Amino acid sequence: MKTYTHIFQGTAFSSKSPKVVQTLKDHLFCINAGGMIEKIIAPDDYDYQVLLDTYQDDESFHRLADGQYFLPGFIDLHVHAPQWAQAGTALDIPLYDWLNTYTFPIESKFSDLDFAKNVYQDVVSTLLANGTTTALYFATVHKEASLALADICAEKGQRGLVGKVVMDNPDQTPDYYRDADSETALADTEEFILAVKELAKKTKQGVYPVVTPRFIPSCTDEVLNGLGALAAKHDTYIQSHCSESDWEHGYVRERFGKNDAFALHDFGLLRKKSVMAHCNFLDDRDAELFAETGTAVCHCPISNAYFANSVIPIAQLHSKGVEIGLGSDISGGFSPSLFDNVRQAVMSSRMLEDGVNPALPAEERGVPHSRITLNEAFYLATAGGGESVSLPIGRLEENYAWDVQVIETRVAAAKLPLYDANENLQDIFQKIIYLVRPENIREVWVQGEKVHSR
Ligand code: GUN
Ligand code: FE
Repeated sequence: MKTYTHIFQGTAFSSKSPKVVQTLKDHLFCINAGGMIEKIIAPDDYDYQVLLDTYQDDESFHRLADGQYFLPGFIDLHVHAPQWAQAGTALDIPLYDWLNTYTFPIESKFSDLDFAKNVYQDVVSTLLANGTTTALYFATVHKEASLALADICAEKGQRGLVGKVVMDNPDQTPDYYRDADSETALADTEEFILAVKELAKKTKQGVYPVVTPRFIPSCTDEVLNGLGALAAKHDTYIQSHCSESDWEHGYVRERFGKNDAFALHDFGLLRKKSVMAHCNFLDDRDAELFAETGTAVCHCPISNAYFANSVIPIAQLHSKGVEIGLGSDISGGFSPSLFDNVRQAVMSSRMLEDGVNPALPAEERGVPHSRITLNEAFYLATAGGGESVSLPIGRLEENYAWDVQVIETRVAAAKLPLYDANENLQDIFQKIIYLVRPENIREVWVQGEKVHSR
């Protein structure tokens, strides 16, 4: 009798802890009807041969070819889905000007449902093809189009956490792009939450509504209060931008006399299910508040190179017990790939540690103990993301979802430099993380279902 829906045989890499990536060589991954990893069996386990004998001729059995490896699917904790339409452009000016010159105009076009669906189909497919199995999305202020994004995630099999963006403050938003008023913003958000919860019942992988005040400047006190209450009432996720740039951080200090973290907390917006993007300017007390409330930081290393006016001290925040994941921040970050963001996270951290001004003596240039390793950056994109959203994802372990990318290292046009048949698996892992391109991502699975192949 066959107990499992699928059995996969192959070598996998998965974080054991922030610093340690475990290699599971030639293991069997036994997947149940719910798409969860029910058992992982090592080659020296007694059951190994029994399972092989039972399954290996069945279509439920999948053996990786030589040169192929499993990685956990990536968890992108911060994507502006509508901004996919301008990804790779418009990065020449600071945040405030960028929002008003490029981003609010493009987002306002999502009142057109056909245009919205077009872009959203494309961004969800693109992220899947880049190995992103779970994404935490900002949509736009438009309720219908935001629901269309949730629908598209449901249909394509991606685990989408989706927010209708709220921005009702006439002082900081343009007339052509804002919620009609605070009451409408709250009513639309509640309808959106209920509709996505209904939709979720029809999916295997889950889609989730997210309460989404864009950031403090674009919201009135009334709406921020109301959104905190709605999140508590419906037990939803919350996402926003927090202490991102000098301008934004300064604006909040001027309006409330405190940092974003404490201001957001006053409105009930820091909870176990909150994810705050950027957080470059958190001070020690802010970080403690994040750790106490279970609020996660989403590190957006590519975007931060353009808008942050600083490099976030990730290593220091991690050591304070703050949950941290990784985000592309499309289109503040130009790349839809979390591989690219893992690479940038490592590089930015090294620049923070070493400093950048060659006119200063070496010992005065940087911030000591700031660098993170490739393993730590990979952790942020996988296990750290899973912890941030409190879901059993991001690790290839029993009782975690079968969310994986199958990496093919021998693609003709994107061949990895693997010449030694006995190459150490940790080295192979590093080559994969630094060198993989979408061409190398052969299959992507979410919750035990194949959602992409090439
Ligand atoms: N702050 C408010 N809105 C945005 C946005 O769309 N992108 C980034 N990077 N920061 C923001
Ligand atoms: Fe953002």
